[in-house]
Amino acid sequence: MKALVLSGGAGTRLRPFSYSMPKQLIPIANKPVLEYVVENLREIGVTEIGIIVGDRAHEISDVLGDGSALGVAITYIPQDAPLGLAHCVKIARPFLGDDDFVMYLGDNMLVEGISEIADEFAAVRPSAQVVVYKVPDPRAFGVAEVDENSRVTRLVEKPQEPRSDLAMIGVYFFTPRIHEAVDAIEPSWRGELEITDALQWLVTHDRDVRARIYSGFWKDTGKVEDVLECNREVLQRMRTDVQGIVDEESTLIGEVVVEEGARVVRSCIVGPAIIGAGTLVEESIVGPYTAIGADCRITESGVSDSIVLSGAFVHNVSGIETSLIGRKARVGSAKQHRLVVGDDAHVEVAA
Ligand code: TTP
Repeated sequence: MKALVLSGGAGTRLRPFSYSMPKQLIPIANKPVLEYVVENLREIGVTEIGIIVGDRAHEISDVLGDGSALGVAITYIPQDAPLGLAHCVKIARPFLGDDDFVMYLGDNMLVEGISEIADEFAAVRPSAQVVVYKVPDPRAFGVAEVDENSRVTRLVEKPQEPRSDLAMIGVYFFTPRIHEAVDAIEPSWRGELEITDALQWLVTHDRDVRARIYSGFWKDTGKVEDVLECNREVLQRMRTDVQGIVDEESTLIGEVVVEEGARVVRSCIVGPAIIGAGTLVEESIVGPYTAIGADCRITESGVSDSIVLSGAFVHNVSGIETSLIGRKARVGSAKQHRLVVGDDAHVEVAA
C-alpha cells in the first residue's frame, strides 16, 4: 500500500500564518503537523509516500527531504492550483499505479494513529473506506449515511439537514477502483473535483464503500483555535524530559520538556509545556499547555495556553493566553499600543 498526503491548498483560514509558511508545517508541541502524519503512516507500514504540494513545495521539501530521516521514501507531486481532493488523486495516478493507497490530508491530526482503521481496510478491502467522526453539528462537513453493516448508502457535502452525525475526516483508504470514479466526475460548482462526488459515484455504481468511526482525538488544524486545541491535547501526552539547563531558582511543575540547549532562569514552567532547543526563558512564567519553539527568548513575561514559533522574542508582557506567535515575531510592552501587524492578522489587547 502507498500513501498520498495532501499538502497543497490555499490555507485561507490560517492567515496570516499561511502567508509565511504552509499550514501543514505549523508545529504542534514543537513538531510540524506533517511529521505526525508521516509517523502515523510509517506505523501502519506504509513507506512509499507521495506528497501533493502547491506553490510552497520548497518549504515542505526543506523540512521532510526525501523522507529517509523519518524512515520513508517521499515523492513530491506538484499541483498547479488547488483544484480539489479528487484532482490530487488524478494527478498522482502515475505515482499510485494500481496499488491500494491511503489518502491523508496533510493538516489532519489523528493523535491515536490509524492502525486499527488500516487493519480493517486490509481485512475487508472494500472499494473505499472513509473515516468518520461523530460531530455535534455535521453541517460544515461531508456527511456519511451508513447502514447497520457500516456500508455507506449516501454521502452529502455540507447538508443543511443532516441525516447522520458522521462527518468524514481527512483519511481515506482506496483500492484502484477510485480512479474510475475520479475519471467519471465533473468539477463541482466551486470548480473543484470533489472526493465526496467520487465516493458517491462508487456508491451509486454499487461498489462497496465502508465507513469506520474514529474515536480518538481528531482535529483538522485549519484554524488557529483548532491548532491550539491540538497543541493542548498532544502536550498532555508528553512526559517530563529535561535536556537543557534549569537553574536552582526555577521551578518545573507537572510534565515539562526542556530541549537540548534551552535555559530556564529564575522562572516557573507549568506543565504540560515544552521549551524548544536553544530557547531562553528568564524571569517568566510559562504554561500550562504551552509550546515554545527553538531559539526563542521569553523574558519577564507570562505565556500560557499558546504556541510560540521559533526565533520569537517576548519581553515584559504578562498574561499572554491562547495565542499563536509567529517565527521571529517580537512582542513587547509600551505605554501605548504600538502595533506593526501584518495582513489578516488578529490582535486582541486587554481592555
Ligand atoms: P482544505 O483545508 O479543505 O483547503 P485549504 O488548504 O485550501 O484551506 P482553506 O479552506 O483554509 O483555504 O484542504 C485540506 C487539505 O488538502 C490541506 O492539507 C490542503 C490539501 N489540498 C490540496 O493539497 N490540494 C487541493 O486541491 C485542496 C483543495 C486541498
